[in-house]
Amino acid sequence: MSRKLLIAGNWKMNGLLADGVALAKGVAGEVKALGKTDLEFLVCPPFTLLTSVKKALRGAKVALGAQDCHFAVKGAHTGDISPAMLKDVGCAYVILGHSERRADHKESSELINKKSVAAYEQGLKAIICIGETEAERDAGKTIDVCAKQILGSVPDNATAANTVIAYEPVWAIGTGKTPTSKDVQEVHAAIRKVLAKKLGKGNANKMRILYGGSVKPSNAKEFLSLEDVDGALIGGASLKVEDFLGIAKAVK
Ligand code: PGA
Repeated sequence: MSRKLLIAGNWKMNGLLADGVALAKGVAGEVKALGKTDLEFLVCPPFTLLTSVKKALRGAKVALGAQDCHFAVKGAHTGDISPAMLKDVGCAYVILGHSERRADHKESSELINKKSVAAYEQGLKAIICIGETEAERDAGKTIDVCAKQILGSVPDNATAANTVIAYEPVWAIGTGKTPTSKDVQEVHAAIRKVLAKKLGKGNANKMRILYGGSVKPSNAKEFLSLEDVDGALIGGASLKVEDFLGIAKAVK
């Protein structure tokens, strides 16, 4: 089953206007220079940079995504951003249920499910994040935790066309620590099994499952060549053009 590798940058809460535009222009230039590849590129800047980054990416095959959205189309939700607004400024993707949002904003799987449905309704693709904490891993609960998060967060109408899963062990995010490639393959295969049960084998076999957590140019090939790993969700290393593209070049 061939699934197009997705190289996705999650900029998190980083970048003022000038830095964000410079980073986007750098990525756009390097992606153009790379020429034709089998890779799909995506950057997910903070809301404040979406419009300027969209402009800076003009002419390059790099998609735009956001890092969260509300489940309503519009209305009295001070401080929130709707999926319709994201679509309006040119987003194709939205990251939902990142562990930082699950932790900092107490987002439940039920809420992430609702947000995903709302994203689909605007034609956005949802990147639904799951992953265990260090304590859960030490207790041998990794696969159970991921299965539970998938069953709760992934809507019944998710398909390989509207959804990407990102497996990000919480303890590997921004720490420089990573699971072994054997562990990653095992968890991804287990995730695909759960997806098959929930959404049917056809969708599960076509759905991309990204690995995230301290991905960098030096370990990209190890993870991205695994059978059930279909790309990477990259935090820290997506903030430097040479690291982000270095990851792509490692697997090109
Ligand atoms: P990291 O973050 O690459 O900095 O570990 C990944 C993520 O949180 O998406």
